[in-house]
Amino acid sequence: MRQVPAHVAIMMDGNGRWGKQHGVTRSQGHFAGAQAMEKIIDAALDLNIKVLTQYAFSIEIWKRPKAEVDYLMALPVKFFKRKITEFIKKDIRLIFSGDINGLPKLTREAVKNAAEKTKNNTKLIVNFALNYGGK
Ligand code: FPP
Repeated sequence: MRQVPAHVAIMMDGNGRWGKQHGVTRSQGHFAGAQAMEKIIDAALDLNIKVLTQYAFSIEIWKRPKAEVDYLMALPVKFFKRKITEFIKKDIRLIFSGDINGLPKLTREAVKNAAEKTKNNTKLIVNFALNYGGK
């Protein structure tokens, strides 16, 4: 039987550079990053990994230009709206680490709702680190 780690953690980096290399905006780079997240989640399911942590954005994010911050805050809202039914069907539990209460209302509600709707799922835990710091 193939041996796989129980827990894999991934730190997102290079979305902005990816956008530049592909002649699109930094925000479009973040959109592509979120699409890559989807592929990673499916790969984790295939490999029977039990916990996947995705370090999405740290507290350093707030220093970025407002338009980019606004885009990043809206992205989880759209992402979970589009994906939640699929995550439930795939028996994925979503949990969130970081200062969730420090997120804007719509983002906070979207992630709390995603956690609530998937809380009884057991096949794979996806832990999104949002607004996290070193402490
Ligand atoms: C790193 O690239 C990426 C980020 C700081 C933000 C990524 C966050 C998302 C895609 C949000 C997704 C969250 C959910 C829950 C869907 P960078 O901007 O630091 O790239 P650079 O190093 O090229 O500047």
